[in-house]
Amino acid sequence: MRICVIGAGYVGLATAVMFAKLGHKVVCADVDERRVRDIQAGRSPFYEPPLEKELGKFVRSGALTASTDSRAPARDSKFIFICVQTPSLSSGRIDLRPLKAASRVVAKTLASSKEYKVVVVKSTVVPSTTVSVVRQILEGGSGKTAGEDFGLCMNPEFLQEGSALRDSMKPSRVVVGAIDRRSGDALMRLYAPIKADKVRTDLSSAEMIKYASNAFLAMKISYANEMANMCARLGIDSGPVLEAVGKDPRIGSMFLTPGLGFGGSCLPKDVKALRHKTKALGLPAKLMSGVLAVNDDQPFEAIELLNTALGSLRGRRVAVLGLSFKGGVSDVRDSRAIPLIAGLLAGGAEVVAFDPMSMSQFIELMPAIQYASSAKDALNGADACVVQSDWPEFSRLGKKEFSRMRNAIVVDGRRCLDPAKVERAGARYLGVGYGVASK
Ligand SMILES: NC(=O)c1ccc[n+]([C@@H]2O[C@H](COP(=O)([O-])OP(=O)(O)OC[C@H]3O[C@@H](n4cnc5c(N)ncnc54)[C@H](O)[C@@H]3O)[C@@H](O)[C@H]2O)c1
Repeated sequence: MRICVIGAGYVGLATAVMFAKLGHKVVCADVDERRVRDIQAGRSPFYEPPLEKELGKFVRSGALTASTDSRAPARDSKFIFICVQTPSLSSGRIDLRPLKAASRVVAKTLASSKEYKVVVVKSTVVPSTTVSVVRQILEGGSGKTAGEDFGLCMNPEFLQEGSALRDSMKPSRVVVGAIDRRSGDALMRLYAPIKADKVRTDLSSAEMIKYASNAFLAMKISYANEMANMCARLGIDSGPVLEAVGKDPRIGSMFLTPGLGFGGSCLPKDVKALRHKTKALGLPAKLMSGVLAVNDDQPFEAIELLNTALGSLRGRRVAVLGLSFKGGVSDVRDSRAIPLIAGLLAGGAEVVAFDPMSMSQFIELMPAIQYASSAKDALNGADACVVQSDWPEFSRLGKKEFSRMRNAIVVDGRRCLDPAKVERAGARYLGVGYGVASK
């Protein structure tokens, strides 16, 4: 089967490699020439090692190709997956311009095609976008009718960066939203080799499932943070508290680690979009507003710990370790490092930052701070450090590195260090929501 994937980011590329692994011939179409060149050379445009390994294999065999042109690959394909970005506008609404642009190109190919094709929206879009916006563009531009002349599906993606390909191959569930039975049946057949629960719905329910899922995950993180902040004020270590809470099977242990809050390309923008849509429906969106408010304040928990430990931030040198939104990935979109560093600078601190994989992207966002070439260099002469993302190498830091600091104060913003090990290495451990060591 020939498949065209429009938008070769985390979702598009993982989708493309997954279908190549299932034996299909896939073309990735992207407007970003650099991304296309990377893929043509078998390189992943972002840090995702297992995906890159498989990508190289399929590029060499010719099963996966890349192009800056969407029209020809879409014309030659039975399935067209739209995987473009849907970032937040300042209002919280999602920016539909990339989705509309991609849909217009697809509409042109539908106009000139005699073959029945299925268009699949994989980008995260608020309920009713596929049935109204995408459908209207496809029908208007092609003169054809969705559900009759071509198929239309909404197939939300649940992968996590850092395990993109594994999550695509072994998803927790596959959601197939379709405009009609024929479109849904076709997509179900395509997904048949993927062993997972499959949920069939209409287009808008599929869109809502994605938002409802991310809203819950974000809520769990803000809940954990609010509980941890309370524990810290009570002198209680939130670690064992939340661990025991998570043992309740009705709650579950994942996403219950307190820290600097959620970032990345999905949770913040999806919660904002859901809040915007909820308000547009005349509902108050109190829960989503609370989730975002807790998250916005969370980097200041680390700043407060530092202020208490150092007296003031003015003139203090603070090393920020980890700039990506989590360890193991290079994505800096909505990373908590951004408000954290802004808060440190506002308090008068001098900031030196390091990340193993995302320095070049982060420098574009914050060019004015200092950057170090390693965690060890960042710690040199620092008055304190904040571990912002949970890269494994930060948990290996010890006496050799901490002894280079002027004041060995370590704020663990992700609860990824062993407090006893840090203290044995001669540093003072302060964990966000820890409460005990900071007494
Ligand atoms: N990143 C994740 O972990 C993740 C997980 C689940 C769902 N999603 C959702 O999937 C969608 C894609 O996310 P992503 O992280 O892969 O985005 P991304 O920004 O990494 O990639 C999007 C790609 O689309 C390309 N593009 C934009 N307009 C185009 C056009 N008209 N034609 C061809 N290419 C075009 C861009 O150049 C870019 O390479 C978003 O809606 C996101 O919310 C993302």
